[in-house]
Amino acid sequence: MTNAPLNILKISSSSRSGGSVSRQLTDRVAQRFLAENSGATVVARDVVSGLLPISEDWIGASFTPAEQRSEAQQDLLKVSDELVSELRAADILLIGLPIYNFGVPAALKAWIDLVCRAGETFRYTEAGPEGLLKGKRAIVSVASGGVPVGSPMDHATNYLTQVLGFIGITDVTYVSATGLASDPETPLRAAETEIDGLDYQTAA
Ligand SMILES: Cc1cc2nc3c(=O)[nH]c(=O)nc-3n(C[C@H](O)[C@H](O)[C@H](O)COP(=O)(O)O)c2cc1C
Repeated sequence: MTNAPLNILKISSSSRSGGSVSRQLTDRVAQRFLAENSGATVVARDVVSGLLPISEDWIGASFTPAEQRSEAQQDLLKVSDELVSELRAADILLIGLPIYNFGVPAALKAWIDLVCRAGETFRYTEAGPEGLLKGKRAIVSVASGGVPVGSPMDHATNYLTQVLGFIGITDVTYVSATGLASDPETPLRAAETEIDGLDYQTAA
């Protein structure tokens, strides 16, 4: 870490704007970072609306070398470029992850598809792909109705760990409120306690 003010990128992916546990937990983590790091800033990115699935033309543009891209191809990549810039600028990545149908929300998958960019966030080497976003720390706040994090039914967190590692983010912490369908309070309180016990002084 440098001594520059901490840049925090907060990704929200719950389709619920009110009553969302993952948003509530992610906000709590962000507040803790702000309280303990003077000058820290938060960029909030809500991925629920506005991100389109990648298209055939988008893939073509993405794999065309930057200097050979047409204006139309550059336009197609604009949103992705913006998301990649946000991610590159972040020291700390906070992700709110509701479990939907045993996996990540489609909105978060759309964001993932837009930020996994060859030559930008990872590159191919003779030894295999290499993530290019090094030195960042991610904290993921998970909410689920019943699926326990790390159980065989959880196809969200292993996947997210894989994807983040693929682009170079290997310092990933999960805090989770699971089993909310049967008990909305106890798992939430436990997650809050877990969040309050995290280290906010140091980043990756
Ligand atoms: C469309 C949908 C699908 C869901 N699928 C699952 C699931 O597969 N497993 C599970 O444990 N909970 C599931 N849930 C419950 C959510 O994970 C739970 O409500 C969680 O609190 C959602 O996050 P949020 O509070 O941030 O919106 C689902 C909820 C919705 C709305």
